[in-house]
Amino acid sequence: MTTNKRKDIYLTQWKPASLWQRLKISHQEKHWLLEEKSLTAKFKKQCPNLTVEILSEKWQAPLSYEKQQLGLKDNQHAWTRCIVLKCGQQNILYARTVIPNLTSGNTWFAIKKLGNKPLGEVLFNLKNITRSPFKILKRNYPWQYLEQNTIAAARYSLFKQDNQPLLLTEVFLLKI
Ligand code: PHB
Repeated sequence: MTTNKRKDIYLTQWKPASLWQRLKISHQEKHWLLEEKSLTAKFKKQCPNLTVEILSEKWQAPLSYEKQQLGLKDNQHAWTRCIVLKCGQQNILYARTVIPNLTSGNTWFAIKKLGNKPLGEVLFNLKNITRSPFKILKRNYPWQYLEQNTIAAARYSLFKQDNQPLLLTEVFLLKI
């Protein structure tokens, strides 16, 4: 299958975090978008009743930037967890975690059993992980569950443990 790379917003529009001002991101948004510590912990300060709703957890075809970041072949599927973080009834964050080869020998295997526990509670307690600088985006997402015409700020970064990758993308659903 050929993909039209010019139209592929996932591939072309992510920017390094240093260019946040070009994306019409406010100082307030930047404060959230570029938070390096646990976002869950930061949200919890404002919302004690924070919950994780799992949208899907399955092997699926990655999006083009995910494929590129993870060095996957065209038809290679990866284990993907999609969740919405909620404060009461309100959706505040959409997150996609993509992990290739998530079988029992993979260093991230425990994440398969995470259930409703927020990923950050695991990630930020690990000692030997590295994290790439954020890439960011602010746009109208074609991702299904978002209301049409919602312009949302998003970020992704690549974590590695034992040289095995995990790509985490987070989309802010609240006006921050
Ligand atoms: C998750 O549980 O998958 C999760 C929770 C909060 C985040 C990212 C991922 O910020």
